[in-house]
Amino acid sequence: MSTDLTTIRQEFPLLEAKTYLNSCSYGVLAKPVEAAFRKYLESRHAHGSDWEVWVGELENLRASLARLLGCPPDDVSVSTSLSESVNALASSLDPTQGRDTIVTTDFDFPTSSQIWLAQERRGARVVRARADETGVAIPLAAFEALIDDRTLLVSLPWVCYRNGVKLDLKPVIRLARERGALVFVDAYQAIGSLPLSALELGADFIAGGCLKYLLGTAGIGFMYVRNSEQSPLIPVTTGWFAQADINAMDIYRNDPSPMARRFESGTPNVSATYACTAGIELVLDVGLQAIRDQALHLTGLIVDGVQSRGWTLVTPASPDRHGSLIAIAAKDAPALVRALADDDIVVSERDNNLRVSPHFYNDDEDIERLFASLERNAGLLAV
Ligand SMILES: Cc1ncc(COP(=O)(O)O)c(C=O)c1O
Repeated sequence: MSTDLTTIRQEFPLLEAKTYLNSCSYGVLAKPVEAAFRKYLESRHAHGSDWEVWVGELENLRASLARLLGCPPDDVSVSTSLSESVNALASSLDPTQGRDTIVTTDFDFPTSSQIWLAQERRGARVVRARADETGVAIPLAAFEALIDDRTLLVSLPWVCYRNGVKLDLKPVIRLARERGALVFVDAYQAIGSLPLSALELGADFIAGGCLKYLLGTAGIGFMYVRNSEQSPLIPVTTGWFAQADINAMDIYRNDPSPMARRFESGTPNVSATYACTAGIELVLDVGLQAIRDQALHLTGLIVDGVQSRGWTLVTPASPDRHGSLIAIAAKDAPALVRALADDDIVVSERDNNLRVSPHFYNDDEDIERLFASLERNAGLLAV
């Protein structure tokens, strides 16, 4: 990887000006993604309306997502945000027909938690697998105690946006399936940074978006639906792009697609489909395993650097317990983010912890610059 890194970095102009370690928030704009945006604008200048091509772009995106997820394209639905996909999924569940409980976790991103809680008005009961006393682990026993024959769905974040913890999904998925529950995975903080085979993972639904480690842009969400054609779930939210035949234009009939597309709704975000396909293809070209290897190298440097200076690591140090995000305890995280920004270092904060999230385009010098600046601002870090 290191031999190619100089070439790779040239594709990301921002990296010349900034030490960018905030891919958990937004990935760096790559030249091919910029070119994809331009292609969309050119198509508007040239044709005004070019729907056939634009719907084709939606299918290109679906195909790229399917390669990324390791599943058939028919099992991928495209939306405008993860929230839209999860709302469609929630609308397809009926908590009044036997199983009424949704098991969620302390590590959820707000949107999934809020969507599950909103289902209480539809008769759902929401219970939560709690973090243990370390605050950075949810023991399997917590899920064992909660998942039972009332459980309709178990909702799991793969990597937590606050502390970088990577959950060991497979034992929970196995448990849920043994007990007859569906499983939803919010992969937003992992997708593009970890190797993934949706079929092998065994979750029923995996959702994410394209603007972080997938290098795309805001305005696209997606959801994998396992064996979508066999699944009996049909969302109540719908629209013309969710129909079996988009061209049917039949106002007297709602005929949802038998495929994952039935979880879609209206006109797609066309400009974003161009950009997101380009981002995903770039990620696939580099390769998910190579990306993970580089992330583990860089997060390893961050972990060692924090520990050797006696600062407080929030994220578990073990590489198999975190994604590409490392959280460091701060005394005043917003002030620390501002101080680092003064040194042209881009990071973010949550829960008064600094979030440092490298991607494959970062190099060792980025981490050296980070620590030089952290040393200058050590008074803002917790010990
Ligand atoms: C884990 C996770 N889920 C969901 C989201 C956002 O979802 P949406 O596309 O609905 O804004 C984020 C964004 O930061 C996230 O980190």
